[in-house]
Amino acid sequence: MARLQGKRCVVTGGARGIGRGICDAFVREGASVLLTDIDDAGGQAAATEMGCDFLRLDVRCEADWTALERGEPAIDVMVNNAGITGFEDSPGPHDPEHSSLEDWRAVHAVNTDGTFLGCRYAIRAMKAAGTGSIINISSRSGLVGIPGAAAYAASKAAIRNHSKSVALYCAQQGWAIRCNSVHPAAILTPMWEALLGDGPDREARMAAFVADTPLKRFGTVEEVAALCVFLASDESAYMTGAELTLDGGLLAGSSASPGE
Ligand SMILES: NC(=O)c1ccc[n+]([C@@H]2O[C@H](COP(=O)([O-])OP(=O)(O)OC[C@H]3O[C@@H](n4cnc5c(N)ncnc54)[C@H](O)[C@@H]3O)[C@@H](O)[C@H]2O)c1
Repeated sequence: MARLQGKRCVVTGGARGIGRGICDAFVREGASVLLTDIDDAGGQAAATEMGCDFLRLDVRCEADWTALERGEPAIDVMVNNAGITGFEDSPGPHDPEHSSLEDWRAVHAVNTDGTFLGCRYAIRAMKAAGTGSIINISSRSGLVGIPGAAAYAASKAAIRNHSKSVALYCAQQGWAIRCNSVHPAAILTPMWEALLGDGPDREARMAAFVADTPLKRFGTVEEVAALCVFLASDESAYMTGAELTLDGGLLAGSSASPGE
């Protein structure tokens, strides 16, 4: 029996990377998936390939969520995955001293506002059944500071804490609507391609990025998707308000540790 049979799932930012991997794994586990993204062409192509539905949804836009609420008034699983680092549209600087307010707000509009709106929609679309699973993709950057990506780190920390508020609020109402956050470290997706390039130094650059990671490699989208399948399924029915790291052991220790 497929693990997500009969579940209606909405995933944001599903056109590529981690979101696409989650949609793919959910479809293979028997779910009916609505893949959403701002990338119309990429989203539609990915959805067609996987055999799921596509809807253009900009997570920053309240009207898009209202339209989704009308089209999908009842769902079982919501994955708030869409997120940006801020470097896509602005080279920065993104440190706490020099970052512009505009750059700060642009990151929060997608990561923080988008996750807030996604959770609000999901609660409304789950409460009639009184059950469901909300999965918020945060980051290891939501657990530690990043001096050169201050808005990103603050937005991911906001996602971590908002997930706990959602979990507690739903439990308080007597609903079995669960909400958990996932904290990946370096996962090889298109988000990394600009930094890695495709020249002869690619392997060396990749190794440098994961030099401090105990498992010495990038994670894969399939590994993040596998955790999301578990959180979406009834196997995790007793888990809510939890934060799950997926980081090759990075946060298990500290570079300031006293040694072997
Ligand atoms: N890749 C990593 O190393 C890593 C690590 C930790 C956390 N994450 C988080 O995982 C999530 C996915 O990351 P990824 O690496 O797959 O990124 P990606 O850039 O490869 O894909 C992001 C997707 O989100 C979509 N998107 C961007 N803005 C949007 C908006 N306003 N509305 C709807 N969709 C929008 C993009 O079109 C794209 O399809 C993000 O929240 C990211 O912060 C990634």
